[in-house]
Amino acid sequence: MITQITEIVREASLLMKKDIEDISQKGNASNYVTSADIAVQDFLYEKLRALLPGSGFIGEEGDAAFQTAEYTWVIDPIDGTSNFIRDLGLSVISVALLKDNAPYIGVVYFPYRDEMYYAKAGKGAFMNGKPIHVSDRDYAHSHLCSAMSLYDKRHASACFRIIEKVYDECDDLRRLGTAALELSYLAAGRVELYFEIRIFPWDAAAAALLIQEAGGYVEFLFHDSLPLDGPFGVIAANTKENFKKLRATVYGELKEKPF
Ligand code: IPD
Ligand code: CA
Ligand code: CA
Repeated sequence: MITQITEIVREASLLMKKDIEDISQKGNASNYVTSADIAVQDFLYEKLRALLPGSGFIGEEGDAAFQTAEYTWVIDPIDGTSNFIRDLGLSVISVALLKDNAPYIGVVYFPYRDEMYYAKAGKGAFMNGKPIHVSDRDYAHSHLCSAMSLYDKRHASACFRIIEKVYDECDDLRRLGTAALELSYLAAGRVELYFEIRIFPWDAAAAALLIQEAGGYVEFLFHDSLPLDGPFGVIAANTKENFKKLRATVYGELKEKPF
C-alpha cells in the first residue's frame, strides 16, 4: 500500500512542475490557491479513492467532500503555497491515511530534493528507503520551527511571545512556510522543536505520524487526538525532555483554548 501511495504522490508532483495558470485569494489577504493546488488535489482524489474504494476524503482545496469512513485520506495538495507562488523551492505534498480517524499511513513528498518521507503506524519512519530518527540534541542546541497564525493574525502576538521565550533558550529559529516539511525535518533529525498555534488536519496528519514513528513527541493543543474539523494548535519535539519544556512554555502562555 505505501509503495502504491508514494507512486501516486510522485506522479502528482509532476503537476507542480507546470506553469501556474491561475492564482486566487481565499478568505483573507495571505491565503492563496493556484491551479496547481487544484490539479494535484483532483489527481489525488481520483487515484487514492480508486486505490481504496469506499474511503473517505478530506482535502484542503475547493469543495472537496469532507467525508470520513473507516479509511480516510487527509490531503494537502501543496503545503507551502506562498512559497510555491514565489518559486522558493519549499513546498510539499502531504497525504495521510487514517484508520478509524487515527493516522495509519503518512507520506510527505518534497519534490525539490526528491525526498519521499513515509511511515506506517508501528512500523517506523523512512526517507527514500532509509529509516529516519529524531535527533538527540538538547534544548539549548535545538532549532525551533514555527509560524505566527498567518491566516488569522489575531493570534500572532501570542505566537511571538511564545517564540521569544523559546528562542531565549534554544539555539535558533526557522520559519520555512511549510508545516508538513518542517515536521518531516523534525522526524529526520534536522530540527528539534515545533510550535504552531493554528493549523489544519491536512498540514499535520501525515508528518505527525512520521515524528511518532521516528521516536519523537507530538501533541495537538487542548485535544487528545488529531482533530479533523480544525483549526488547532500543535507542538512537537525530538526528546521527552525537550517536549516537556516546550509544552510548559506554550501552555504557560496560552492558559486556555485560543479558539
Ligand atoms: C500553510 C503552511 C504554513 C503554515 C500554515 C499552513 P498552505 O499551509 O504550512 O507554513 O504556517 O499554518 O496553513 O496554506 O501553504 O497549504
Ligand atoms: Ca498547508
Ligand atoms: Ca495547501
